[in-house]
Amino acid sequence: MTAQRLEGIGEYYFSTKLREIDDMNRQGRQVINLGIGSPDQPPHPEVIKTLQEAAARPDTHGYQNYKGSPVLRKAFAGWYNTWYGVDLDPDTEILPLIGSKEGIMHICMTYLNEGDEALIPNPGYPTYQSAVKLAGGTPVPYTLSASKNWAPDWEALEKTDLKKVKLMWVNYPHMPTGQRANKELFERLVDFGRRHNILICHDNPYSFILNDRPESLLAVKNAKDVVLELNSLSKSQNMAGWRIGALLGAQQRINEVLRFKSNMDSGMFLPVQLAAAKALELGKDWYDSVNAVYQKRREKVFQLLDVLNCTYDKDQVGLFVWASIPEGYKDGYAVSDAVLYGSNVFITPGGIFGSEGNGYIRVSLCATEEKLEQSMERIKATVWSSR
Ligand SMILES: Cc1ncc(COP(=O)(O)O)c(C=O)c1O
Repeated sequence: MTAQRLEGIGEYYFSTKLREIDDMNRQGRQVINLGIGSPDQPPHPEVIKTLQEAAARPDTHGYQNYKGSPVLRKAFAGWYNTWYGVDLDPDTEILPLIGSKEGIMHICMTYLNEGDEALIPNPGYPTYQSAVKLAGGTPVPYTLSASKNWAPDWEALEKTDLKKVKLMWVNYPHMPTGQRANKELFERLVDFGRRHNILICHDNPYSFILNDRPESLLAVKNAKDVVLELNSLSKSQNMAGWRIGALLGAQQRINEVLRFKSNMDSGMFLPVQLAAAKALELGKDWYDSVNAVYQKRREKVFQLLDVLNCTYDKDQVGLFVWASIPEGYKDGYAVSDAVLYGSNVFITPGGIFGSEGNGYIRVSLCATEEKLEQSMERIKATVWSSR
């Protein structure tokens, strides 16, 4: 018998879907997966070299500091200063994480009591909702819509009963819609958190992808009083499988989360941390080279979406393209199913990110141009040609 806390928590959507795709592949269907945002390009060669050299040393294999290696914390501080214009104390204001996904859970476990509420974006990354629930809290979705450029509806939020709300999850550049924040939105978030005594948790893994101005919510004046930020090397350094992220914020908050986290894991393999530190030192050339590849792929994805008769905003950032479904389909699930079963191409239905995503699909840029062309040909040749 599973614990009550698992009630209403399904297996992660992609975990089940990938099993179905594996089954299809065993039947010889050779499905092209345009669903997941797992970068297919490798990290910089110097990063791999650092890992190899550090792993070959005899003194790097023990348990590590719960607060992460000072080398990695210093590298995160340098990265935040260089790219986001934010000053952080590497000794007290940075906590390396085993990916930012675990940080979402740690924050919920650290701050939510049974009955506490947390605002979560609809549409948004599904983990916010499950982490809030697993921690015993109640998710309160707030609507993001195209008509408001995927920013919160402030009027509606101010009218919401916020008495029990302790946390608000926000994420810009926003996944899945690819919307960037602007200064006004960030300032408003900090002001909202301050006035209502809500901890604003900003999840920021996409700020370097097809985006020439990375931004941190911590750059807003006095933000550290009410903001915690998560960041990650998964997307911008092509290191998703390495599991490296960080929590950034005020010393007191970092120590509070560490009280929970230090009871969960025993640190990260030192060579991984040293290699991550190397990755954080990479310059503009690196980000430009990664983005040049995504830029070309995005053009192909636009063409593929044209074949599907979808509409989309060309001014999106991040690792995906978000598009409205064509007429004649009930929702994004119907489009995704038609493309998967008809053409052996998997694209993500927008509804998995919340009800406000029902009329959309999301296409990943983590597939080669060749695969994208192949997908387009398959779609042209099957479902869409029979419409
Ligand atoms: C919005 C968002 N936050 C967090 C994550 C998790 O990133 P990480 O690999 O750092 O755990 C993802 C990954 O897809 C994401 O889309």
